[in-house]
Amino acid sequence: MSYNTFGREFRFTTWGESHGPALGATVDGTPPGVPVDEDFIQQFLDRRRPGTSKHTTQRKEADRVRILSGVFEGRSTGTPIQLMIENTDQRSKDYGDIATSFRPGHADITYHQKYGLRDYRGGGRSSARETAARVAAGGVAQAVLAHLLPTLSITGYMVQMGEMRLNRDRFDATAISENPFFLPDSTAVSAWSDYLDGIRKSQNSVGAAVEVLIAGCPPGLGAPVYAKLDTDLAAAMMSINAVKGVEIGEGMAAAALTGTANADEMRMGPDGPIFLSNHAGGILGGISTGQDIAVRFSVKPTSSITTPRKTINRMGEEIDLITKGRHDPCVGIRAVPVAEAMAACVVLDHLLMDRAQTGGKRGAIGEM
Ligand SMILES: Cc1cc2nc3c(=O)[nH]c(=O)nc-3n(C[C@H](O)[C@H](O)[C@H](O)COP(=O)(O)O)c2cc1C
Repeated sequence: MSYNTFGREFRFTTWGESHGPALGATVDGTPPGVPVDEDFIQQFLDRRRPGTSKHTTQRKEADRVRILSGVFEGRSTGTPIQLMIENTDQRSKDYGDIATSFRPGHADITYHQKYGLRDYRGGGRSSARETAARVAAGGVAQAVLAHLLPTLSITGYMVQMGEMRLNRDRFDATAISENPFFLPDSTAVSAWSDYLDGIRKSQNSVGAAVEVLIAGCPPGLGAPVYAKLDTDLAAAMMSINAVKGVEIGEGMAAAALTGTANADEMRMGPDGPIFLSNHAGGILGGISTGQDIAVRFSVKPTSSITTPRKTINRMGEEIDLITKGRHDPCVGIRAVPVAEAMAACVVLDHLLMDRAQTGGKRGAIGEM
């Protein structure tokens, strides 16, 4: 099962399965001398951790990260950083029923058809448990970004959960860390909570949309034509389990706009160009403009539900299947820290690629 590595200059390889003894990431390309330790990385894992509210799976993984190499006396040495997270709350018996049957909406059938052999416990390698390793790798990326680009911030939040939509007029960034939905509107939390309670009690699940805002990114990151910043961000988000659509800036809504409405006009400010709008989502020609970069994606409803679903088994028999186990009624919630981690890895990868190619030099504006 190859292709487990993400990135170019800043790379990580994740390893491990949902019900194995541990999983983790090997991170390579970290510049030396960056302050980073387990506590720093842990704060990101704690945001993704299951069992922190009634709105996420009740699995109780501690998700404690250990750094096995590449950090000495609290600083990166420039050698591979090995990160390990032990699996402590597996209940493999929950998955006995699916050893020979294919859960609808899961990768059981495609893994079986492709490999002929799979660790069915908890979905094995296809389980979103793998995203814990990405969040740990993203923690390293965040440490490097804080060191090299302290003005940068990466903020993920929910913008939709089924019928519930964020009212952008009420956007309040300070609310995001104060509620279990990563919702930037504290006044809507109880309505979202009641809605998801109803979904869960009716043995159902629901989809979501998440947005990641990258602010303070300098102009010039992104390498045309096959390593565009938007290409890499979209691929990074699409690689997250259950993601079915990705948009940058206006995204699909651009199809309804005219050229006069959509073009981001420019004026000259005291310190360089000023854009009068940001329909492009902070990226032109695959290269960052210096504006906020807005990436949005949709997440499908959790496939594991206790309502019986029609499926087939390995013998080709038609069956009805209830997926037992402890599942997230809306996986969009825990996808938020995963998306932030992927965004951090992409931006850092591009920062390092840009330094390698241009040395950070920029074309001047306002000089002849
Ligand atoms: C953070 C996170 C947690 C998830 N938890 C669950 C879960 O509890 N139950 C489930 O059915 N799917 C869950 N998923 C989604 C599945 O992993 C995913 O739908 C499945 O592996 C099939 O892959 P695909 O939807 O990308 O095609 C989760 C996804 C994410 C991002």
